[in-house]
Amino acid sequence: MSSTRRSVALLGATGSIGTQTLDVLRREPDAFELVAIAGGRRLGELAAIAEEFHVRRVGIASEEDRETLSELLGPRVELVVGSSGLSELAQSADIVVNAVMGFAGLPVTMATLESGRRLALANKESLIAAAPLVAQARATPGASVLPIDSEHCAIHQCLASSNSSSGYPDVRRLLLTASGGPFRGWPKERLATASRDDALRHPTWSMGPKITIDSSTLMNKGLEVLEASALFGIEVGRVDVVVHPQSIVHSMVEFVDGSVVAQLSRPDMRLPIAYCLGLPERLDHAWGAIDFTQPLALSFEAPDYESFPALELAYAAARRGGAAPAWLSAANEVAVEAFLAGRISWPRIVATVAAVMDQYIDDPLASLSDLLENDATARRLAHGILEE
Ligand SMILES: NC(=O)c1ccc[n+]([C@@H]2O[C@H](COP(=O)([O-])OP(=O)(O)OC[C@H]3O[C@@H](n4cnc5c(N)ncnc54)[C@H](OP(=O)(O)O)[C@@H]3O)[C@@H](O)[C@H]2O)c1
Repeated sequence: MSSTRRSVALLGATGSIGTQTLDVLRREPDAFELVAIAGGRRLGELAAIAEEFHVRRVGIASEEDRETLSELLGPRVELVVGSSGLSELAQSADIVVNAVMGFAGLPVTMATLESGRRLALANKESLIAAAPLVAQARATPGASVLPIDSEHCAIHQCLASSNSSSGYPDVRRLLLTASGGPFRGWPKERLATASRDDALRHPTWSMGPKITIDSSTLMNKGLEVLEASALFGIEVGRVDVVVHPQSIVHSMVEFVDGSVVAQLSRPDMRLPIAYCLGLPERLDHAWGAIDFTQPLALSFEAPDYESFPALELAYAAARRGGAAPAWLSAANEVAVEAFLAGRISWPRIVATVAAVMDQYIDDPLASLSDLLENDATARRLAHGILEE
């Protein structure tokens, strides 16, 4: 590794991506210094991370928790609260890891890019909802986005084989791989009976609850189609989904001459996290390394668009552009929350999103206030539909 120690802000430190990022940082104390963290409700965990890494700046979601956390942290730690706190922390390090869940991660994405820093992005929801605004913010000198999402991290690596750095005319299509989730192959009638526990049982990845449910509906893959298009500036017509149950090939790029470049590893999120922290160098830890002396079967199949309508909803939102992806993502967050709370059945998650999208009226999404308004409208509509 290079001799300069780079500072890291880890926002969403107590979650699945957060704890795996900490694992990477523990192995590289000479390369990185953790200077800021933020979390939501798991205050004890947050305080323990601050103590272990000697972090002096901590963010929390709610003013209500200030007193409890202040007591846990002691007087030497500066505490910031809410979305303005997240924005402040995002301007305090060389590299900002956005591991917050959902639309709440938006201030991190915007503040990191607008202040010209490296954004290691796990929080796909902010990029999807704010794509036109993020595109402007990425033009800030020094700003860059590196994707932690394993599929997009794979594509980032595969695109190094392209002769072009924008528009990618030599790329025929991006092939996003999908495990298929816990319900791959389930007939429609059985899907109607899927329980919360069934949906939380992902076959290959251990992740936070929201993304795990999104994987069960394939909404996660739909969101990733939008994410890939926004990240790489490639229209969704050139982004395809391929089901690959083993989660070994993390995604592929097909070039115009028919050549396909893929990235492979065992499923381990520490690999893409380390890639995003280390670039332009690679960190020397064999996370996810494959033992090719052992049998390895790789299979691929087409997604079942009929049983998993979330995929087509995402493509439709991408084609409409503007605020449509923000509506899709907001309505989905509301529906997933209701499912996790046991208030609705599994099929109602995507049915709710579809009903919200039926009411979408084109909006080009010109500003942040416009986005916040659209997000609030989509959420209000989703809540209304859930109460019917
Ligand atoms: N997990 C994966 O393998 C994976 C893979 C690819 C992409 N991603 C993406 O990465 C993001 C995080 O996913 P995850 O699975 O790590 O989720 P998670 O386990 O639920 O963790 C979410 C984190 O966000 C924090 N948080 C929530 N609301 C917050 C707020 N208002 N302010 C500050 N912090 C807040 C949570 O804090 P508390 O827990 O303390 O409340 C927690 O630290 C998502 O966008 C997901 O789509 C995840």
